[in-house]
Amino acid sequence: MPTFNILMLPGDGIGVEVMAEVQTLIDWFNHQGIARFEVEQDLVGGSAYDAYGEAISEAAMDLAQASDAVMFGAVGGPKWDAVPYEKRPEAGLLRLRKDLGLFANLRPAICYGALADASALKRELVEGLDILIVRELTGGVYFGEPKEIVDLGNGQKRAVDTQVYQTFEIERIVRVACELARTRRKKVTSSDKKNVMKSGVLWDEVARQVHSREYSDITYEHMLADNCGMQLVRQPKQFDVIVTDNLFGDMLSDVAAMLTGSLGMLPSASLGAPDEKTGRRKSMYEPVHGSAPDITGQGIANPIATIASFGMALRYSFGMGEWADKLDQAIAKVLDQGLRTRDIMQSGMREVSTTEMGTAIRQELAASA
Ligand code: IPM
Ligand code: MG
Repeated sequence: MPTFNILMLPGDGIGVEVMAEVQTLIDWFNHQGIARFEVEQDLVGGSAYDAYGEAISEAAMDLAQASDAVMFGAVGGPKWDAVPYEKRPEAGLLRLRKDLGLFANLRPAICYGALADASALKRELVEGLDILIVRELTGGVYFGEPKEIVDLGNGQKRAVDTQVYQTFEIERIVRVACELARTRRKKVTSSDKKNVMKSGVLWDEVARQVHSREYSDITYEHMLADNCGMQLVRQPKQFDVIVTDNLFGDMLSDVAAMLTGSLGMLPSASLGAPDEKTGRRKSMYEPVHGSAPDITGQGIANPIATIASFGMALRYSFGMGEWADKLDQAIAKVLDQGLRTRDIMQSGMREVSTTEMGTAIRQELAASA
């Protein structure tokens, strides 16, 4: 039986509640003897700051480095608004991404048929939607130096962030996007702001080269990032895979998320390069939604994005694609049955708690096993 080490980092806010549903799901897999998952748990974000004075401890970083996959919940909340910038909850997440080398962030936006009416867009625009945003995650303006606020001494300050990309960073993320497009509808849209940014000029140049050299079987399209935001809400089904940088990917994936009905529905996978010896990639899986302090502790958070993130771990880290498919089908079934957490509640449906949703999905999975 395959054995995998998972580091679970529920983090703050609803991260704790939704991750509890993944823990129960993992217990089920272990109990059924389908796989052997060894789980360690640690703190990240504000809860780590409260305990250790850092957004993530060295011990937790060591566990993350040694794991087959990290399951990440969410970080942040008003409680930590005044924490120094270097120790803010988000710093834990950014350090994990950077130190584990998780340069490829996969954010699928799939509209389940049952939820097509929960989207802010008309049903016909989103029904059957299945797009994948591939976001560069370890470079660009998130990490570029200098990054500082300088006091100019004349009552003025000067703030700088640096948007920077090198050829190899663009090449490897475009390759990931093209490889994934090959398993889908074979179209990649690369998005940047080459009309105003040098990094965009290089991005497009390198992306085109990779495409024509290695992936001429894929349709390649360039789209300026502002237009891409507009097209996502105008005609989202024109896209298959969108590849873009760290900052544009952050924004475009939130837009894409809302097309599906709720931010509470979107999973993500963050992958590193395959290890030269073992072929294994470092990986982390997290819901796209945040810690939602406004609904924390009420038991009403939607666990689907986190459960679906575990599904992505089954697919990309554990070689259990069939189980990933079954889990996705179980989620769709439960939605078809009319079960809804509050964020996706519609009239005539049955509102359920976080735990009830998690339990229902597990039961459907067990029924299909
Ligand atoms: C995301 C989040 C993070 C980001 C924050 C929490 C730092 O918005 O994963 O999309 O900006 O990358
Ligand atoms: Mg974001």
